[in-house]
Amino acid sequence: MKKYAIILAAGKGTRMKTELPKCAYPLLKKPMIAYIVENLYKSTVIDELITVVGHKKQVIKDILNSRVSYAYQEEQLGTGHAVMMCKDQVTEPGYTIILPGDMPLIDELVIKEAIVYHEKAKNDLTVVSTNLADPSGYGRIIKKNNQLEAIIEEKDATDKQKEINEVNTGIYIVDNKLLFSSLDKISNDNAQNEYYLTDIVKIIKKDNYKISTYLLKKSFKAMGINDLYALSQAESILRHEINKKFMRSGVAMINPDTITIGDNVLIEENVTVSPNTYITGNSVIKKNAKVGPSTEIHNSKIGENVTVKHSLIYNSEVKANSTVGPFAHLRDGAVIGENNRIGNFVEIKKSSTGDFFKASHLAYVGDAEIGNDVNFGCGSITVNYDGRNKYKTQIGNDVFVGCNANLIAPIIIDDNSTIAAGSTLDKNVPKDTLAIARSYQVNKENYFKNGKRYKDKK
Ligand code: UD1
Ligand code: CA
Repeated sequence: MKKYAIILAAGKGTRMKTELPKCAYPLLKKPMIAYIVENLYKSTVIDELITVVGHKKQVIKDILNSRVSYAYQEEQLGTGHAVMMCKDQVTEPGYTIILPGDMPLIDELVIKEAIVYHEKAKNDLTVVSTNLADPSGYGRIIKKNNQLEAIIEEKDATDKQKEINEVNTGIYIVDNKLLFSSLDKISNDNAQNEYYLTDIVKIIKKDNYKISTYLLKKSFKAMGINDLYALSQAESILRHEINKKFMRSGVAMINPDTITIGDNVLIEENVTVSPNTYITGNSVIKKNAKVGPSTEIHNSKIGENVTVKHSLIYNSEVKANSTVGPFAHLRDGAVIGENNRIGNFVEIKKSSTGDFFKASHLAYVGDAEIGNDVNFGCGSITVNYDGRNKYKTQIGNDVFVGCNANLIAPIIIDDNSTIAAGSTLDKNVPKDTLAIARSYQVNKENYFKNGKRYKDKK
């Protein structure tokens, strides 16, 4: 017996009224389709995942890569038609769980519980339903003597049917053979001229198979994202849940409504996160760190006792006891050593620094490898780009770079050397050396005489 999952993600998302295919829209900086696929993996009950793609399919494929296999729906003729496109891939006996790609709050628990229910009930078809105070927009569950009969789409429903509060979440578990034999019988004779997946319910019911609903109690999880307002609501629910989980495990958050933590982020105890801070992607924040206010950290690792204020850190690492900011920018694989001080308006790109590196103000470090105990004076930069190519800078241990120095790469500055302030270097500096590369000062005396500058005379 094989268990398949089919995720429907071919639709355009007309109601989003924007360019991106709907299922690619991010919540907490992660595309909604990625939540569904990750939660299916976490549930550990599925053998094969198939995603139906169509509209702007490459965007979806770039998100999921080889985590799933793909079926193609060139024309979006409805959810039933989308599932039909998987027929050649669902070949083994067993059952399939079908999920829409626009329901990012469905977690692995819902998936597991629905499957346990389906197996225990020995059902041929289970429809996951939920009760909504405002059911508008959803398909309504039609029951007779408390038995599932059919699903009616809002646009096809009578006024009486529209009053029903039990709705179709869009998740189904169905026997593989039965799924495709019933899909062969659906038509597009409805208000939207689409092949509705929901029509398999009445077809399967008519043939006396065993069907029922599984009622999802936490109805917020079944929220379908059809427009940008719904997206913001789902994001706010998710944000709240994630923040609550962290605060309950020892992470302090000041004004948590302004703090966004992605759902793949790990934060250890005794961390404080201050307002207007985003920590997203596969980021890790170690013990006793202080992050924020107004900071973005994406796919980065922040070590123990690190402080980050008003700064941007992307795809980088900051090791223990260092401080970053205010207004620093670390990116593209910057690795900051222990006990560093990365201060105001300092940018560090694709570089590594040893322990006790200091760049306290106004510096640019790009494509550089820097040893221990190095000081980078205010305004100093690595000149890594000649307009065509990028070059590396190598700096040893115990190096003092004075203020406003230009280190023209490729260049090697060896251990214990000192660079005079204002120097523009284009040659390597050997060990224990003072390098000066600037014109010497000339003082013209009596330039200012009788209350006037020389050039103002007369
Ligand atoms: C669908 C259900 C509705 C249910 C609701 C739950 C049908 C007919 N209706 O309505 O009963 O209450 O979900 O959220 O199934 N898609 C394709 N190809 C298509 C059309 C859609 O892949 O030709 C995909 C979309 O990308 C989307 C999913 O299927 O991820 C659902 O489509 P959508 O148009 O959002 O369906 P709803 O109108 O919300
Ligand atoms: Ca939907």
